[in-house]
Amino acid sequence: MEVMLCSLSLRLASHNLKLVNIASEIVRANSSTPNLINLNAYDIPYYNQEIEEKALPQAVLSLKDKMDHAKALILASPEYNFSMPGHFKNTLDWLSRCKPQPFKNKPILLLSASPGMVAGNRGLWSLRIPLEALGAFVFPTMFSLPFIHESFTDDHKFKDQESFNKLDEVVKSFLRFASTLSY
Ligand code: FNR
Repeated sequence: MEVMLCSLSLRLASHNLKLVNIASEIVRANSSTPNLINLNAYDIPYYNQEIEEKALPQAVLSLKDKMDHAKALILASPEYNFSMPGHFKNTLDWLSRCKPQPFKNKPILLLSASPGMVAGNRGLWSLRIPLEALGAFVFPTMFSLPFIHESFTDDHKFKDQESFNKLDEVVKSFLRFASTLSY
């Protein structure tokens, strides 16, 4: 089963990218194929109906194509002002204009990492709304990592085994869930 993973933080030193890299290894260890996507590679303009009326941007179509090849998605998002990053809402709005719409019936696991105690979890709730509106099967359990500045080793692993065990359990149950869906 191919699983597309993506950090919704665009920076190279992103903690969400570290999280998604660890999740990617768990996917691989469980006989699935991770496909890690870098959103910086997709030059997507601000949504504008006049652009859409000419044609959907190539970058939107390329990202949709990657999504179509994946049976499931894992997204790791920073929380910006209690919500999702603005660039991703824009990307999601563009993707929602594709036919067929690529979020429909897609199993999606949401992860977050933040310096605070709430761990970016509020941002994930804002992300659930458009994803569910678009017909995605957003996995009920989410994984949110708090205190990120103290949570990773220099080689980008979790410092404590408990965080790894929790993420491992969530990713494994998500993979079992996704593999049972026959859409
Ligand atoms: C933040 N940050 C933040 N953190 C949080 O827990 N709740 C929040 O509401 C916000 N709001 C917010 C707004 C903006 C515009 C920025 C730039 C940042 C902090 C954020 O969690 C922190 O920068 C993370 O390190 C971002 O994740 P990456 O880039 O490390 O993956």
